[in-house]
Amino acid sequence: MHSPPDAVIIMAAGAGTRMRSRHPKVLHPVVGRPLLGWVLALAQELQPAQIVVVTGGGQPDVADYAMSWAAGAASDVRCAVQSPPQGTADAVRVGLTALPRSITERPGATVLILSGDVPLLHREQVDNLLGAHRQASATVLTTRLAEPLHYGRVIRSGAQVAAIVEARDADAETAAITEINTGIYAFDAPSLVAAVAQITAEPPSNAQGEYYLTDAVAILVAAGRPVAAVLTEDATAVMGINDRAELAAADRIMAARIAHGWLAAGVTMIDPGRVRIEPTVTLEPDAVLYPDVHLAGATLIEADAVIGPETTLTDCRVGARSRVQRTTATGALIGADCAVGPYTYLRPGTDLGDGSKVGAYVEVKASRVGVGAKVPHLSYIGDAEIGEGTNIGAATVVVNYDGVAKHRTHIGTHVRIGSDTMLIAPVTIGDGAYTAAGSVITEDVPPGAMAVGRARQRTVPGWVMRRRPGTPSAAAAAAGAGPVDTVAADV
Ligand code: UD1
Ligand code: MG
Repeated sequence: MHSPPDAVIIMAAGAGTRMRSRHPKVLHPVVGRPLLGWVLALAQELQPAQIVVVTGGGQPDVADYAMSWAAGAASDVRCAVQSPPQGTADAVRVGLTALPRSITERPGATVLILSGDVPLLHREQVDNLLGAHRQASATVLTTRLAEPLHYGRVIRSGAQVAAIVEARDADAETAAITEINTGIYAFDAPSLVAAVAQITAEPPSNAQGEYYLTDAVAILVAAGRPVAAVLTEDATAVMGINDRAELAAADRIMAARIAHGWLAAGVTMIDPGRVRIEPTVTLEPDAVLYPDVHLAGATLIEADAVIGPETTLTDCRVGARSRVQRTTATGALIGADCAVGPYTYLRPGTDLGDGSKVGAYVEVKASRVGVGAKVPHLSYIGDAEIGEGTNIGAATVVVNYDGVAKHRTHIGTHVRIGSDTMLIAPVTIGDGAYTAAGSVITEDVPPGAMAVGRARQRTVPGWVMRRRPGTPSAAAAAAGAGPVDTVAADV
């Protein structure tokens, strides 16, 4: 094992023009977490004394995001503003200004350079880099690509690196080199300070007019300080994200990586390629995920719960053995042994007691559904309490909004709400009460009462034969019932 790096500098100030976005490149998400978040998470795992994120001048949201990581971190996390961004050497120069001299001036101190746009990097790859670095002035993490594209080419001199040449500055022979620079390096701190000072002393003369960090290699070699390289076979993990196609590819790879981690932890997936689990989610062994499940935020899925197909859960808890299918839910607590879906929408503040059921085409918001209670079909439940064992008939609506304010509804235990009941809030239905189907309930119902709030039915015999003669309905009525003599008055 190696010791942790003394400092990590994360370069995140680049304009990201190839993204064609109004948003900073490093805040584009991969499986729900910004590119920069993945890099920060890895940097923190390494437990350096200092982490510096280099952000652009016009990117306050990048700095805010970086600082949101600082709160719970063991390392000291700070931002350094590079304005304007003038290339990776300039970014590192700015990053170094945020480090104490006890690091920058100490021979043998290690500064690890990461890019904010390389989210798939493995801990193991960084460990190998740091392990190999030891006494070199710099060690570059490289990989091989059959199509090296826009990556910097690594010019070797035996086991050492002689130089890195950017694709745009490469002649045909250099462009044919397949070993490329990943943009991840370990540097001896004083060597880095000296090389970066030299690069940024004169205006750049390369194709992009930028100060290239990659020029540090040739500078150190010329000064008689060898530069080492560690070649990683996993080229996918060191992929830099520069455009939307690469972002989409990284997202798919990360989603698969996370899914396979949970498979190994005992979660069943019917089709792992069609499951997206954000890194903030927790699943217990024997949870089962059907295809097209998206689990986001602080979601917890307990043992033997069956989720999906076609279900998106954000910041939800699903209790053991519950079944949640074709559901969109945010901020919902679902107890054990519940049945939810299909086509169900659970909004924040939903709290479903153990063994409860919320069925097809039901929306619930800021409501508690008691233990064993059922809302099986076509209902809206908002700002309500539903007691244990209560059944809500199909097409019931809690009318919680009077156009100005929301009001609460209390429904007791073992209540039977008839189908198509409108409960005009605020209203209380006592324990064990019933409402008649089709009722509009505007007044409180005491325990055990039956409330009927609808017009009494009127039936006009023979109306169809008289008023719709010659229609199929009239014929059907005549055949079924025979002539109807009783004639009501003038309907
Ligand atoms: C860089 C390397 C290239 C390597 C590739 C790997 C240089 C000159 N080239 O090229 O050899 O193969 O990464 O992905 O270093 N950044 C700043 N400030 C700047 C410019 C960039 O902070 O002024 C940041 C970017 O936000 C990004 C990282 O540095 O996170 C890399 O910059 P980018 O422009 O993507 O460099 P590449 O052209 O990909
Ligand atoms: Mg890049």
